Amino acid sequence: MRLPARGRAGGKVILLGEHAVVYGYPALAGGLPTGLEVELAPGAGPTVRSEAIDLAGDPRPLGALEEAAALTGIDAAGIEARVRTELPVGRGLGSSAALVVALLRACAAAAGRRLAPEEEVALGRRLEARFHGTPSGIDPAAAALGGCLRFVRGDPPQIAPITPGAPLPLVLAFGEASRRTATAVAGVRERWQRDRSACEALFERIGEVVTRGVLALRRGDLPALGACFDENQTLLERLGVSTPEIERLVAVARAGGALGAKLTGGGGGGAVVAVAADAPALAAALERAGARTLRVTL
Ligand code: PMV
Repeated sequence: MRLPARGRAGGKVILLGEHAVVYGYPALAGGLPTGLEVELAPGAGPTVRSEAIDLAGDPRPLGALEEAAALTGIDAAGIEARVRTELPVGRGLGSSAALVVALLRACAAAAGRRLAPEEEVALGRRLEARFHGTPSGIDPAAAALGGCLRFVRGDPPQIAPITPGAPLPLVLAFGEASRRTATAVAGVRERWQRDRSACEALFERIGEVVTRGVLALRRGDLPALGACFDENQTLLERLGVSTPEIERLVAVARAGGALGAKLTGGGGGGAVVAVAADAPALAAALERAGARTLRVTL
């Protein structure tokens, strides 16, 4: 085994289509340059350590390390995994997906090999289930592949890279911490079991918004993409995954010049993503309203 070994992966932002993607509708996501690194070193392991994340009492990262080691053919005994992250945790930016992909890359490096992108997507999805129950797999796909992609769940998923027709400036704003994604997904499932036709009508409309959004992104038509963000937010509100704090930040973003704004990820708190015409001015407006912000261009 080759130690120390390193693996890095980026976070992700879901631009359009969260929740409906769990039911087989398309979604649009972007990989973030901001990410997370895992270093495997000899130590008193298997163990996972992080200065930024409190791992006490959370068995999931250690379970993910052990499974990543088994999947890549190395022995986890005696390995210490050190995690350094630039991603805010629990804010819907895919830190768990970035963690599992970075763990897989580090374990593969320790085994002296590289995983093919399809393997990273498939194994990442398997490991991510430890964190998110029955995820669609969009998070590890975006973490592993980067760039913008249209995703439809499946075995294997359908993944199409999208080249934006123009740079896409985004401002992310963080208010309160989100619910666990598994809880948000379970909430939607309960609702769907109670009222299938209403939920499926919303998923259908979300799928249509994604299709229009993908075309707008390809053309580089930011106002049209922004309008899709606004429409998607309305549909997510109807689905019951938005909160008053998200809606306050969405309103601040729109008043601050955003071309469109919505929640991103599981909802129930978490981050808002806005298409920016003037990113510094938009970020300043959101910060005046008490939010922490992150500016990225995809
Ligand atoms: O909360 P996040 O960013 O991990 O987003 C999950 C996206 C969902 O569509 C809500 C769930 C999924 O598995 O696709």
